[in-house]
Formats: sequence, structure tokens, C-alpha cells
Amino acid sequence: MKAESEAILQSLREAIAAAVTERELAEVKSRFLGKKGEVTSFLRGLGALPSEERQAAGKAVNELKQAVEAAIERAVRELKGRELARRLEAEWVDPTLDAGRRPVGSIHPTTRIQYEVEDVFTSMGFQVLDGPHVETDYFNFEALNIPADHPARDMQDTFYLEDGNLLRTHTSPIQVRGMQRLRPPLQIIGPGKVFRCERIDASHESSFHQLEGMMVDRDIKVAHLIYFMKTLLSRIFGREEEVRLRPGYFPFVEPGFELDIRCLLCGGKGCSVCKGVGWVELLPCGMVHPNVLRAGGIDPSAYSGFAFGLGLDRLVMMRYGIEDIRHIHSADLRFLEQFR
Ligand code: PHE
Repeated sequence: MKAESEAILQSLREAIAAAVTERELAEVKSRFLGKKGEVTSFLRGLGALPSEERQAAGKAVNELKQAVEAAIERAVRELKGRELARRLEAEWVDPTLDAGRRPVGSIHPTTRIQYEVEDVFTSMGFQVLDGPHVETDYFNFEALNIPADHPARDMQDTFYLEDGNLLRTHTSPIQVRGMQRLRPPLQIIGPGKVFRCERIDASHESSFHQLEGMMVDRDIKVAHLIYFMKTLLSRIFGREEEVRLRPGYFPFVEPGFELDIRCLLCGGKGCSVCKGVGWVELLPCGMVHPNVLRAGGIDPSAYSGFAFGLGLDRLVMMRYGIEDIRHIHSADLRFLEQFR
């Protein structure tokens, strides 16, 4: 009896020593403890013993069974320990570790409104053009009917480079480049960053964003201009905004207009954004001056067109009720996080 259980334990130790994987250990377990396992059949053999011996033998067999179970459990634990140690040694990166939360960014409100305006215009057949921030004097001024001695240059003082080029003061150069490249009929918009030598306050920044557009075809009239501007505003604000059109002077349009909207911040009562007048200049616009069409290689006796300029930052301020343009370029997360 004792010899037999000793023999079983001995062969168990050998089997465990030979087992290298968990699967092999599981096989060892069923070989000894399974239905047809060695311990089990040993246990069954008890029935044949005379009743005096049975109790002692039963106890011995149970001890054997427990010993086998314990040995296998220990072997499994040791195997897992070795496996973990091997992986810790081999794998330097632990993909199960919590990496902490990463802050998720979002599209800047000015960019978002730019995309929206682009959508409005592309849905009406306009194409979106881009142009350089550093412009030549010709594209920024000359081609737009602003010669070197023109007083309008004062209002658009900018940053000049040593080579005579400058940081563009408006997105109008995009239109001149667009006219030169595309033939009429054309419908284009050009969004982008522009720069001016400004005295900075709640509604002026030295760099800001415009989106300008133009449409050139035969027989384009002021009525077309008004239609497109009203469509734009109702799509952006989601309702008909109160607007007013008054004469405005820009060298590159004739006639020229200022399209104002009722100040959405104060409702027309007067505040820092509308400078107390209740209206905000939003859309300077007009019919493209013949000299500008000529600069774009277009015959003004055959074609006419309208052009407009939109201050994107100002539009953002109106829509979200922001009282100071400096918030927009502050890169302050407390400000930006509100636009998630
Ligand atoms: N380029 C003008 C500006 O920045 C805006 C404008 C565009 C005015 C088109 C009229 C027509 O001041």
C-alpha cells in the first residue's frame, strides 16, 4: 500500500519535472487525478481490501490524493511565475498600463465658421482658392486699383519685408490670382489669414481672418450680390438677420457698399463691439472695378462681377457673443474648450 503510493508520488514528480507548459501540466493532472487516472484507480482498488484494512488505507489514499493535487498546483504556480518573469524581462512596454487621459482638441471656432462659409458657397457653385501670406505689392495693392500714392494704403498699413514684399492686408490678392488663372464665368472664394499694422483693441487685431469672394460673368448686377450675401447670412445665422446696405468706398469696387448687420451682442443698443452704434460692419462689397477686371485679364466691356469681403473673426464674435477679438487668438484653453 505504502510502497504503491510512494511509487505513484515518484512517477508524479518525474511527470511534473518533464512538463514545460501549462497544457502539459494539465495532462499530468488528468493522468493522475482524472477518471481513469492512477490515483483514481488506486482508490477504486480499496474495495477489494478486507474491511479492517480499508479505513487506514482510505486515509492513506486521501493523503496521497491531496499530495498529488498540491504538487500539481505548486507546479502550475511556479510555471506561471517563470512565464511572467520571462515576459517582464522581454517586454518593456506594458500595453495594459493605464496611460491616463489625453486631452482631446477641437476645431477652432474661426476655422469652423470658415468651413461653414465654404460649404455655403461651394453648394452654390463657388470654388475655394488659396494664396500666399507674403504678397507682392502688385497683387496686394496695384492690381486692386491702389497705386503707390493712393490714400487707401494708409488704412491698410502692414508689415513690409526687406525685399519689398509684404504681409497681405486682405484676401483680395487671391481674387486677382484667381482671375488670371481661370477664365470667366467664375465663382471663387478665398479664405485666409491677413495682417495689418493695427492699434489693437476689442475689435482690432494685427492678424485676423477674411474670406473674400467674387463672381464674374456677363451681366452680373448688384441684385446678384445682394442675393448671395443674404443667402450667406441666413445660412450662417440660421435665420434672416437685419441688414443694411450703405455706400462704402473701396478702390477696387464701383459702386462699393458696406453691408452691416444689427449687432447681435447688444441687440442694437450699442456696445464696445459695435462702438455704440448698434450696427456692425460685416460685409464690405461692391461691383468689381474695371481696372481690377483688366488686371485679372478680363475685358470689362464684356464681363462684370461682384466681390465681397467677410471678416471671419467678427462673424465668430457675432455668432457666439464674444465681446473681445483678443480672446480668439489668445490660445487660452479656457476659451477654446467652450467650442468642443
Ligand atoms: N479687401 C477689402 C478689405 O479687406 C474688403 C472688400 C472685399 C471690400 C471686396 C469690397 C469688396 O478691406
